Formats: sequence, structure tokens, C-alpha cells
Amino acid sequence: GEVTNDPYALATDAATALRSATGVESFDVALVMGSGWVPAADAIGETVAEIPVTDLPGFAPPAVAGHAGRVRAVRTESGKNALIFLGRTHLYEGRGVEPVVHGVRTAVRAGARTVVLTNAAGGLRPETQEVGEAVLISDHINLTGANPITGATFVDLTEVYSRRLRDLVRGVEPTMTEGVYVAFRGPTYETPAEIQMCRVLGGDMVGMSTVLEAVAAREAGAEVLGISLVTNPGAGLVGKPLNHEEVLQVGRTTAARMGVLLAGIVNKL
Ligand code: 6GU
Repeated sequence: GEVTNDPYALATDAATALRSATGVESFDVALVMGSGWVPAADAIGETVAEIPVTDLPGFAPPAVAGHAGRVRAVRTESGKNALIFLGRTHLYEGRGVEPVVHGVRTAVRAGARTVVLTNAAGGLRPETQEVGEAVLISDHINLTGANPITGATFVDLTEVYSRRLRDLVRGVEPTMTEGVYVAFRGPTYETPAEIQMCRVLGGDMVGMSTVLEAVAAREAGAEVLGISLVTNPGAGLVGKPLNHEEVLQVGRTTAARMGVLLAGIVNKL
């Protein structure tokens, strides 16, 4: 079609391309996962189609050497059409906010009324959180300095992360706790002083993703569920330095368990 600078029109084009590439007319739910979460995606259901996101209009090739994200169409046990993004664009890649939220905008235009955002996060409450624990996001504090919405569009953010969906999750997983997710631009991890600041502000987890996607999903009219996998305590909380490889490793070793949790949730939607 026409080449466009309008991010909303670009998402509409991407949704059309997604429908034809997957043969799925409409999706019920979209899930955004990290690139290391393939075992979690495998647990959601039967793969119908999978393509690199770069086959669709508007998706950025990876900024760092590596592979582009992939998008997978899945049929769940409960007969739902799920769209799973394996890998996402982060603000710290330096391409601005639009590539960060393009997947969510595309998914909503392809029918998804529910958006499940997952992330790996630092824990701000090591006294009560365990490494490898999944926490429901109850709210966020956006310290990225960015916003996916431009102009005088005043979107209400009273309930970004749906209470209905959180209650539904606790129906499946009664022991899951909730917390406030604090987002920084990254790519550095926080200083110990910044981690202390986040605790004072009422934060429970800290990360570099999710909040812009959540805002874009709400703007587009979808219901949002956010889940953080706590991969490590924030800097300075336990003394040892943070290691990106260790963060990824916790993600890998818990991905299958996260998949079972997410499959249980998706089947309840
Ligand atoms: Cl401690 N900070 C941020 N920003 N992201 C993280 C993290 C910490 N641990 C995992 N991801």
C-alpha cells in the first residue's frame, strides 16, 4: 500500500499483512514476551504460523546484531486465537517510541481486545520477593521520559492494568502477588540510589519495557494484563553486581513454568 508516516495507519497496514501472512482473520489475545521465552510460547497452544516481524510493515530490524523478533499465531486449547510476539523493541535501542509500541498497535487492529505484557524485572522488595517469582503488575511509574501518544490526547490511566484480569489470574494462581512496575529507559541498570528512590516511590519491580506498550494498548481500547518475572534484586539491595547473562538465564530456566501459568490464564479469558 501507500508508504505512511502515520503510526496508526502503519499499524492498520501491518494488521492486514499479519492476517494474510497467518491466515487468521481475527485474534482474541496478544502476548508480548522476551526473545528467550520460546518455551513459554510453546505452552500456549498449537502454532498456526510464525514469521519474522520484519516481514510486516513498520517493524524495525534488530538494532543490536542478532535475530529479528518473531510473531507466532497460536490456537489455544480453549479455541482462542493468540498472537505471540517473541522479542520486542526497547526504547534503549534508540529508535524512539513508535517501534516500541507498533506490535501492540498492530495486534489490537488485528482484533486483540486483551494484551498480555510480560517482562523480566529487577525486584525492589527482596525481603518478600523470590528470584524466579512472577508478580502481577498493578500499576506503573513511567520514568522513561517517553510517551507513545503525542498531541492533546488525554488518555485516562486510572486502571492501565485491568483489575478484572488480575482477579481472573488470582482465580488460577491464588498466591500471586501484585506490585508497581517502575520503568527506566535503560540500557544501564539503575544505581543503588535510584533503586532506593524507586522503593520510596512505592515501586516493587524495575525494568526497561512494558509501560509504553501498556499505554498504547489502553489508547487503542484493549484490556491489559502485565506480569513481571523477578530475575534479580535491584542494584545494591543484596550487595552483588547485576549481570545481564544471569538475568537472561533466570528467564530461560523459568520460561516453561511461565508458559504453564500464561496458558492457564489465556484459557480462562
Ligand atoms: Cl535491576 N533493572 C532494570 N531496569 N531492568 C531489569 C533489572 C533491573 N533486572 C532485570 N531487568
